[in-house]
Amino acid sequence: MIDDQNKGQADRSVQTEALSPAGGARRRFLTAAAGVAGAVAAAQTASAQGGGAKPARSSTHAPLKPTAAPAAASLPFHGAHQQGIITPQQAAVYFAAFDITATDRADLVRLMQAWTEAAARLTEGLPVTGEASDDPAKPALDSGEVAGLPPARLTLTFGFGPGLFEKDGKDRFGLAARRPEAFVDLPHFPGDQLIPQRTGGDLCIQACADEPQVAFHAVRQLTRIALPYAATRWVQNGFLAGYAPGQTPRNLMGFKDGTLNVAAKDPAALDQYVWAGKEGGWMQGGTYMVARPVRMALEHWDRMNLGFQEQTMGRHKRSGATLGGTDEFAPLALNAVDKDGNPLTPENAHVRLAAPESNDGAQILRRGYSYDNGVSFVAERWPPWRQGMEMDAGLLFVCYQRDPRTGFIKLFERMSRFDMLNQFVTHVGGGLFAAPPGAEPGRYLGEGLLAG
Ligand code: HEM
Repeated sequence: MIDDQNKGQADRSVQTEALSPAGGARRRFLTAAAGVAGAVAAAQTASAQGGGAKPARSSTHAPLKPTAAPAAASLPFHGAHQQGIITPQQAAVYFAAFDITATDRADLVRLMQAWTEAAARLTEGLPVTGEASDDPAKPALDSGEVAGLPPARLTLTFGFGPGLFEKDGKDRFGLAARRPEAFVDLPHFPGDQLIPQRTGGDLCIQACADEPQVAFHAVRQLTRIALPYAATRWVQNGFLAGYAPGQTPRNLMGFKDGTLNVAAKDPAALDQYVWAGKEGGWMQGGTYMVARPVRMALEHWDRMNLGFQEQTMGRHKRSGATLGGTDEFAPLALNAVDKDGNPLTPENAHVRLAAPESNDGAQILRRGYSYDNGVSFVAERWPPWRQGMEMDAGLLFVCYQRDPRTGFIKLFERMSRFDMLNQFVTHVGGGLFAAPPGAEPGRYLGEGLLAG
């Protein structure tokens, strides 16, 4: 029975991006070829200087769950859409947001050109630049910690923050008129506890790989390239456990997370819910990314009865089935009632409030990762009102949508008020970013915006 179920799920789970052979992707650190050496060298210099429809359910089951792809594989960087969005999830994420320090658009163009070129190399498993870098009298152009490692399905996804279009009332780069209508500022939601040092950013990079060191290395190289133009604002790394193919990963609250999601295999659903259309102008083929670290009060959660946890989430913990059911993949039965006529899934259960059936059909593509930042000092507001070091861990919530106004904002406006889960989770940072369409070979990411 379980085998059949997993088989069914495995059938629905496809590799959404073709894999290129690992053979061509061996890392060659000391070979010579044209590359982004100039940008890396510039960074080194700078561094040295101190520088309303009917609810339509078109979800599928766990489309982004990890698959048994060979760890060595590299994924194509170029294409109509950026990678790392509908790519089956890798084991690790390293997310970084930056403030732009450059003051003119030409510098922004230089940065995006250098980032695009470097990203294409890194995802192939090549060092950041092909320039010879073995002169003992000079710093190496690539920091070298992935030498000998395979590309590990590295994907690099870039986004633009609102500050690119306007910051402190100033149109710094002459781009304000090109800000898409859908790219609104995220409102303040009830319960938000955003820490400035972990919030916002003019640019972002989401690096995902099956090997954490590969994701880290990529952001490290890209940060070095950015040095003359941008400064790191916040970072968050995260992980996703390596469940067997066909199984939905669990989050740190112990629940299966990712059972229902937009069908990454269904181009019509992606066009409807994820990719910006003609209305987006230069954003057509891109998508809007919400990335928010959500801290979980795990010590508090662990003191709750299993039954209460399940009521909060609206699913059974062990099986992932809807309340009263036994099958993780059975449709949500939001109208089901017990013998006294009470809803089996409480009115304020997480899945009820999140479901498209409760939100005029709204859907988002979720692609989050668990995170663990060690421990930090907490004075709890719940019995037994203890103070002390508690786990600073949670979910780096990441979702993609065609329009945040009808995606994350629509969902979270109600969820932030009524979701029972709010007793246990706090949004502590993050932001909304416009992830432009992918770049074809010879073009750079964001060219439609910056060159227009
Ligand atoms: C720490 C915070 C969160 C946790 C632990 C969490 C956990 C879960 C779990 C366990 C499920 C059920 C399994 C599934 O279908 O994937 C779920 C579903 C879902 N969650 Fe969350 N979630 C969190 C935050 C959010 C936020 C902030 C949003 C969006 C505003 C969101 C949107 C959704 C959606 C859309 C679904 C699927 C509902 C459906 O398609 O019927 N979640 N979540």
